Amino acid sequence: MKVLVVGSGGREHTLAWKIRQSPYVTWLGAAPGNGGTRSVAEPVDIPADDVEAIAKYARDNEIELTVVGPEDPLAGGLVDLFEGDKNYIFGPSSAASRIESSKSFAKDLMSSAGIPTAAYRVFTDVASALDYIEKHPVPLVVKASGLAAGKGVFICETREDARLAVRRSMEERIFGDSGDEVVIEEYLEGPEASLLAITDGTDYIMLPPSQDHKRIGEGDTGPNTGGMGAYAPADVVDDDLIRKCGGEIIEPTLKALRDSGTPYHGVLYAGLVLTAEGPKVLEFNCRFGDPETQAVLPLLGVDIIDLMLVAVTGKMGKMQKQLNLEPHQWRRISKTACAGSVVVASEGYPGAYEKNKEITGIPVEGEDLIAFHAGTSWRNGRLYTSGGRVLAITGLGDTLKAALDKAYKAIEGLNFEGKVFRRDIGWRALKEG
Ligand code: AMP
Ligand code: GLY
Repeated sequence: MKVLVVGSGGREHTLAWKIRQSPYVTWLGAAPGNGGTRSVAEPVDIPADDVEAIAKYARDNEIELTVVGPEDPLAGGLVDLFEGDKNYIFGPSSAASRIESSKSFAKDLMSSAGIPTAAYRVFTDVASALDYIEKHPVPLVVKASGLAAGKGVFICETREDARLAVRRSMEERIFGDSGDEVVIEEYLEGPEASLLAITDGTDYIMLPPSQDHKRIGEGDTGPNTGGMGAYAPADVVDDDLIRKCGGEIIEPTLKALRDSGTPYHGVLYAGLVLTAEGPKVLEFNCRFGDPETQAVLPLLGVDIIDLMLVAVTGKMGKMQKQLNLEPHQWRRISKTACAGSVVVASEGYPGAYEKNKEITGIPVEGEDLIAFHAGTSWRNGRLYTSGGRVLAITGLGDTLKAALDKAYKAIEGLNFEGKVFRRDIGWRALKEG
């Protein structure tokens, strides 16, 4: 089977690494890939968001399965371009991917389907947004409704901060069109967790629950980033809770999408806050998480192509029946106990940073250690930084501590000018013991 992974981040290197292990795969490409995907996939020189060129490439080269990493090509209609083709693509249609690309769509869907989430209102004019802020207690969360590369969220401790966030989004238009509509919502208190469910639109299987670390600074301080590290499984999501999340969050969401004529297939990512009143949805994403994927996929003991194929062909339920596998039984598809993945970034990220620093000391892949590349590229046989998040080093082990110790030890030997990373990935879980 010929498979193409679309994207160029750490998540896509991880997807390509896992897909390469499948005995079905005879050829694997990455469009465009990065310095790391080269070891497992052939580079295909097409940017991820050039949806027309990717669809044409897949058709011309008889790619039997295209796997989409990032949200932009999904929102841009890549999956829709495959309609009527005999070749498969893993990911939701543009209409279904609004679950991520439009926060107001996602919030309205949750409210009509009774899915627990933060109380909210959607605004398209500044005056009503400012009026709402005067009448509601702080903290308040102000979010640009459209895609803003993970930067469109302001946690506002004071009303003045909230007013400023509204003005920056709607008047200064720092997110362009994406911020013309804003969502203002209640602040949710509690630990966060990421749930990934692979689905054919009706049936689904949960992957091990994970936890990301969004802030740049240790102790979860400083500005938000794309994610500085992740671990899985996240024990805060125990078996009862994941079953409950399946029934109260994933199932009604899939049903609401089916009922509205936009069935969803691919991977549905629910970002949760585990509040005192129970789990509530912070956001949905229409794709795998980055860096959650770097911790989650190495745990799996099954062929990911099998899971993706039942999702794209509508046979998830049939497979589960054959295996007597319930949606929340992720342990039955896992082979390793724990994974910890630490992102190594360029100094200055998530703000301005320098590129083109030579990287040396990349850890050699072993049974319990993998270096996933994100912003790296090769030039004349040498590896250089080419992005904010440069690598994610994943350690595996019987305990989270053992897994993270392996990752951190490997990071000691890794060098490039301006190398930064958080030394406390997994701190909440380790503290709780
Ligand atoms: P998002 O881009 O929606 O995932 O938001 C980025 C981060 O902001 C989340 O991971 C949370 O840490 C935080 N956040 C967003 N919405 C809320 C909320 N309603 N309550 C508390 N924290 C939030
Ligand atoms: N790690 C957060 C995300 O992928 O959106």
